[in-house]
Amino acid sequence: SIVRRSSTAGASYVSRRGFASGSAPERKVAVLGAAGGIGQPLSLLMKLNPLVSSLSLYDIAGTPGVAADVSHINTRSEVAGFAGEEQLGQALEGADVVIIPAGVPRKPGMTRDDLFNINAGIVKSLCTAIAKYCPNALVNMISNPVNSTVPIAAEVFKKAGTYDEKKLFGVTMLDVVRAKTFYAGKAKVNVAEVNLPVVGGHAGITILPLFSQATPKANLSDEEIVALTKRTQDGGTEVVEAKAGKGSATLSMAYAGAIFADACLKGLNGVPDVVECAFVQSNVTELPFFASKVRLGKNGVEEVLGLGPLNDYEKQGLEALKPELLSSIEKGIKFAKEN
Ligand code: NAI
Repeated sequence: SIVRRSSTAGASYVSRRGFASGSAPERKVAVLGAAGGIGQPLSLLMKLNPLVSSLSLYDIAGTPGVAADVSHINTRSEVAGFAGEEQLGQALEGADVVIIPAGVPRKPGMTRDDLFNINAGIVKSLCTAIAKYCPNALVNMISNPVNSTVPIAAEVFKKAGTYDEKKLFGVTMLDVVRAKTFYAGKAKVNVAEVNLPVVGGHAGITILPLFSQATPKANLSDEEIVALTKRTQDGGTEVVEAKAGKGSATLSMAYAGAIFADACLKGLNGVPDVVECAFVQSNVTELPFFASKVRLGKNGVEEVLGLGPLNDYEKQGLEALKPELLSSIEKGIKFAKEN
């Protein structure tokens, strides 16, 4: 187990004795890839989160500027920027939650799997450092292809002897955010009240929104549900095409990543009944990793919740996604074992 940072650790921190930290416990959050398209707005949103006492921003370059900028915001957390591999250990030491949006994004015509060759190596090296410097942290994996990068992370942690399946999450929250938005628009209900699970994985048809469980209920036609399902599955591509070569979702992803990290922090702090969807090690299906609702607690995943009742269309979608999801999982495991 790991010793929490003392006030003397980490020279980049001007002071660990912050003011007005209230009654919330000290929590360190590290963002890896913090100077990127997602990383910057995500760093901003985490700076606004009163549950964070220490915000550690790491990237291969550019983080001193991002950190200086964000640090002027008059909220609770102290901010430190770390650039380059030699500072990665310091960035991670004592972290309670590590959020990983490091790696290349898609361009038009690319699938998430096309990112595999570059991002797999990045994720592997970052997870090797996590195993060394903050083996107890909750890891929120944003880097794509999530269906493969989460299994890679699991293998790296297993090899290091630090794997705890309760602490590793693929962030699928953006699929939930999109499904809620699109459903509210079609069903003409208040978007703030909408809730529904999105299960499976995080790429194309592996993204399975369960609109039959959506609340508030609405009488949508089969055609409308099919269209909503496709739009949710293709939501990322919609943004990639609109950005026309300038990358993929960054702002909505930062929002989704910040909500998911907030849920993790609430769970760590003992808030009851924190339930969100995430891609985790799972027994819900025969696949070793699967996204579904999970209850978050003091150790990370407290309970992986089942799928609930599916209609025939959703049952078909579930069967259809399994081969692709399994092959993406196996591809990640194979990479981690061979590299
Ligand atoms: P970006 O290219 O704007 O930023 C990526 C950042 O990662 C850059 O600042 C880069 O310097 C940094 N980086 C590269 N190698 C690194 C390393 N070894 N250590 C630390 N940082 C490193 O890309 P963007 O748009 O921020 O996307 C990042 C990732 O998030 C991509 O893989 C993308 O596919 C994924 N993504 C995931 C979503 C999800 O729903 N899970 C949604 C949208 C994007």
